[in-house]
Amino acid sequence: MNKITEVVKIFFAYLVRPHLYPELGRKIIKNTFQRGSATKGKETAEKWCKERSISQEEAIQSITGNLNYPKLNENYSEILQNAQKIEENTPVKMGGAGALDLIYNLCEFTQAQNALETGVAYGWSSLAALLSLSKRNGTLYSSDMPYLGKDNDVYVGCVVPENLRKNWKLFRFADRESLPKIFKEQSEFDFVHYDSDKSYNGRMWAYNVLWDKVKSGGVFMSDDIADNAAFMDYCLQNKREPIIVEFDGKYAGLILKS
Ligand SMILES: C[S@@+](CC[C@H](N)C(=O)[O-])C[C@H]1O[C@@H](n2cnc3c(N)ncnc32)[C@H](O)[C@@H]1O
Repeated sequence: MNKITEVVKIFFAYLVRPHLYPELGRKIIKNTFQRGSATKGKETAEKWCKERSISQEEAIQSITGNLNYPKLNENYSEILQNAQKIEENTPVKMGGAGALDLIYNLCEFTQAQNALETGVAYGWSSLAALLSLSKRNGTLYSSDMPYLGKDNDVYVGCVVPENLRKNWKLFRFADRESLPKIFKEQSEFDFVHYDSDKSYNGRMWAYNVLWDKVKSGGVFMSDDIADNAAFMDYCLQNKREPIIVEFDGKYAGLILKS
């Protein structure tokens, strides 16, 4: 598909989804006036992450103090294998699994009752969080809009098994619309995971809004923080001391709220 056909397809995908019109407006503004937002400061951010990063295992052990922490592949192998099969049989390709042990163990560490995530796709991160939350009958609030042009709406969250869905509230809007709706239902979260709009401006807006909602003793996590300098700038500007985790050649950032 050439670029123009793709842009037209995405435009029409927005047009048939009125609940995403506000995001369409923002996308037009972004693509006109903020064209460098996806990769702003990428080189500096990569260097900053690389110099500070530790492995997923080191991060879990140092935060939880548990050297023999639970691993999803061992404790939930059947659920993970089923999820893998579902992903393989899904006709659209979406964002795949990230640092699932980290997400699960952070929910366990905070004994999360309420967690919030932005960005669902297949639902791997949702699955990891729900496996922990469901033990305490807690709730995961997720915000996700589909990949426009891929018509993947019906597959969003498809790897999450039926029995975990009673602990899950999925808001199918862009974050700027979903988050206010979520905050009307719940205003404090033990664990927050950001994995949606990866642009510099999108992150800067969301990091500030989300941090205020992290409970004292809770953890904030953002994926793909070396895509641009937003996470680094956010930490430097607000004097946060993050833990940087290297996973599969990418970096996630964690901030613990004391
Ligand atoms: C990388 S995927 C999420 C992967 C998921 N967290 C996981 O680990 O399995 C990003 C998701 O965020 C969605 N997304 C992108 N921009 C968004 C926005 N502004 N608001 C809500 N969702 C968005 C994408 O359509 C996609 O479903």
